[in-house]
Formats: sequence, C-alpha cells, structure tokens
Amino acid sequence: MSDPKIVKLVDESSNRSSELPLISGTLGPACIDIGTLYKDTGHFTYDPGYGSTASTKSAITYIDGDEGVLLYRGYPIEQLAEKSSFLEVSYLLLNGELPNKTQFEGFEHEITHHTMMHEAQKNFFQGFHHDAHPMAMLAAAVASLSAFYHDDLDVEDPADRKLAAIRLIAKMPTIAAACFRYSVGWPMRYPRNNLEYVTRFLHMMFEVPSEPLEMNPVAAKALDLLFILHADHEQNASTSTVRLVGSTGANPYASVAAGITALWGPAHGGANEAVLKQLKEIGTPDNVETAVKRAKDKNDSFRLMGFGHRVYKNFDPRAKIIREMCHKVLAELGVNDPLLDVAMKLEEAALKDDYFVERKLYPNVDFYSGIIYKALGIPTEMFTVMFAIARTSGWISHWIEQHETPGSRIGRPRQIYTGAGVRDYLPTAKR
Ligand code: CMC
Repeated sequence: MSDPKIVKLVDESSNRSSELPLISGTLGPACIDIGTLYKDTGHFTYDPGYGSTASTKSAITYIDGDEGVLLYRGYPIEQLAEKSSFLEVSYLLLNGELPNKTQFEGFEHEITHHTMMHEAQKNFFQGFHHDAHPMAMLAAAVASLSAFYHDDLDVEDPADRKLAAIRLIAKMPTIAAACFRYSVGWPMRYPRNNLEYVTRFLHMMFEVPSEPLEMNPVAAKALDLLFILHADHEQNASTSTVRLVGSTGANPYASVAAGITALWGPAHGGANEAVLKQLKEIGTPDNVETAVKRAKDKNDSFRLMGFGHRVYKNFDPRAKIIREMCHKVLAELGVNDPLLDVAMKLEEAALKDDYFVERKLYPNVDFYSGIIYKALGIPTEMFTVMFAIARTSGWISHWIEQHETPGSRIGRPRQIYTGAGVRDYLPTAKR
C-alpha cells in the first residue's frame, strides 16, 4: 500500500477537522504539514523542545539518528572526514556541490584575502576584563562585525550574502585567536596568507614575537578533521537560532552572533568544555563507577557530559571518528594523557549499564574532542570557540538558504498560556 498523502485530524468536541498534507523530503520520514490547523480547528500544536517538529525544509545536511548517519549535501561524513578538507567542506555546504580545482582555488583565494580584522576592531578587545570567557568575547566581536560591514550590506542581494559568508568564514579564526591572545596577554598576530586555513589559525594562536613557531603537521591535520566533523548538523539549537534571528531580516553577523551564544550552553557546544572539566573531576578510572551512579540518580543533577543526543539514538558517527582519531593523534604527538584512560573507562561503563542502554545514551561528538584539543595545546575555555569556528560554515549556509527560499516568513511560535485569567488592576492600598 502506498503512503497516504493526507492525515485527517478531527476534533470530536467541536466537529471541526483539518486535512493535513504529508510532505516528503529526499530522505527521512514524511512530515505532516500543519500550516492550516489553526484556521481549520482553532488549535495550535504543542511540542516543547521540538521533538516532533520540522522547522524548515533544507537541502544542506541529513541525519538519521537511529542508524547513526550524517550526510553533508548527500556525502557521508566518514568519506568527507577521510578525503576532504574543512575549506572544501565549507564550499560544499555553501554551494551544494564539491568544487573543481579552479572553483576551490578561487574560494580559498577569497577566504585568504578576507582574514584580517579591521584595525579598529582590535581595540574593541581592550574593553574586556582580562579573564572574560573567550565565548563571551567571540559573540561580542562577531556581533560587532555588523558595525563594520552593516551600512553597505543588502541581505536581499546574493552577492552581498556571499561576501558576508566569505567574511565570516575567513575572519572567525582571526577573531577566535584574538580572544585567546587577549586572555593570555599576548600581542595580536596578523593572519599569514602564505599558510592554509587551519595552519594559519594555529599560527595566529600560538606564534609569539620572540621565537618562530615549530608546529607538528599532525596538529593541523587533526584540527582540520575536527572542523569537518563540526561544520554542520542540520537544525540544532544554534542553527535554529541563526535561522530565527535571520527570519527577522537581521544581518548575517548579528544572526551568527546569536548562534554563538546558543552554542555556548553546556547542553550544546559548551559540552566539550564541560566534558574535560568532568573528566578532570573524576580524576582516575577508579572513580568512574561513582560518576556513573551519580549520573543515574534522579535526585542528583549530575549528568555524564558528552553523552546522549536528541537525534542520535545510536552512536554519533562523529564520535566514532573522533574516538579513533584521539588515540592516533595522541600517539603521533607523543602525548600520554591519563584523562583518555578515564574517558575510555567511562564509555565502557556507560555502554554496558542498563540506564544508558535503555535510554540509548551514547558518546556524542563532544566526548573525545576535548582530549584532542588539549593535546594540541588549546586551553579548555577555547574548546567551544573551536566548535564555533567550524560551525560558522553551517550557520551561514543555513542563513543563505533561508534567504534563497521563496515565501520565507518570520519565525513566530505560539504558546499555551498558563498565567492568571483577566483581572482588574487594584490600587496599591488594596493589594
Ligand atoms: N547523563 C545522564 N542521563 C542522561 C544524559 C546524560 N548525559 N542525557 C540524557 N539523560 C537521560 C535524561 O535524564 C532522561 O532520563 P529520563 O527519561 O529517566 O527522564 C533521558 O536520558 C532523556 O534525556 P533528555 O534530557 O530528555 O534528552 P534530550 O534529547 O532533551 O537532551 C542532551 C539531549 C544532549 C541535551 C542530553 O543528552 C544531555 O544533556 N547530554 C549531556 C550534554 C551533552 O553532552 N551535550 C552535547 C550534545 S552533542 C553536541 C551538540 O549538540 O552541540
């Protein structure tokens, strides 16, 4: 039997009904289009956390959470991780197709020639307290790009949108490195155009004026791979935030700055920082059992950070790649980190524990990434900034897709009101 194309919803109390069409994408379950539900029945739908709600159509990224599948523009993440580069993936996300040699060279040239910050923006950092969190500085600095590039930006012009995308992808590592250098009191470094994207970023991070930087190429390769894995993840909290802000017509810098603040939370991108702090707190493999016990205790707010995912009810495919890479990178860099032993023991204990098995809680992308960042010398507070650099490609691709979609409307959810009923204002003396 072929799929029904209509779902009929009847409100028996009022005898009003709605015939709701099913919309199918290329892959994934069909969705019930509830656009006429309120008009037909007088009811809204209620789905806090959006567990059953598709907020948009999108051709960028596909996830099958039950099977642990992640595709960027149709390409499996495993193939991109093995064969591609972050910049090529950024081109793919933005343009829908992998670039040929000329297209890639053109894209890399454009990115390379938009990496500098406005000199006035450098002064902006001086206003932050010396121990400001780098994510706070990043969000503010990216929002401030609006002040530098707002006046001549027409969000309805495809060329202007593309230029904004190039600027954001190009400047994000420069701004991120500036956040780090300000927090440690080092002078800012200018981007070096003779280096490729990730190596340039590592130079801006770690090069000091007093001596040349000796960098192990393994570090750049590892970071490039982490950037590929973090580049996009369909309608997650930060991307949905970028789209919601973008739906108002706000400029791309303001929209992406909002995405950065959404990413910061420990339930989302802030988890990588939280994982490392938690592994340090656990300290040794002997304490893993106690941690697992606490995570299961409903009277304790403690959760295993880096475990569980709204969409993946199977291994997060990114976590599989990072887990393997973690061992390799640490070996190649000659780093022996006891936290890796704690992480492995924690993973092993959780994966055979009924609580985690029943709830399908597997390690996610953030579980092992922090150990790699740490091995690369990146401080814990910068972990979510790394995520933000990579996710910028995804955020801006979604922002552009939203503007290219005919009939896009402002995002405006409704609510179930649970406050007081209508009542009369009382003068102070009578309250
Ligand atoms: N440790 C212990 N219990 C957990 C965990 C965890 N990490 N995650 C979920 N649970 C339990 C939760 O208590 C609930 O149990 P019950 O059914 O008995 O009430 C059940 O599993 C379902 O959890 P939920 O909170 O309803 O699931 P969610 O889809 O709303 O949340 C999540 C997903 C990722 C926010 C959550 O799993 C979590 O807080 N994980 C830890 C933080 C983390 O690693 N976040 C990174 C996510 S991946 C990268 C990214 O998105 O940026």
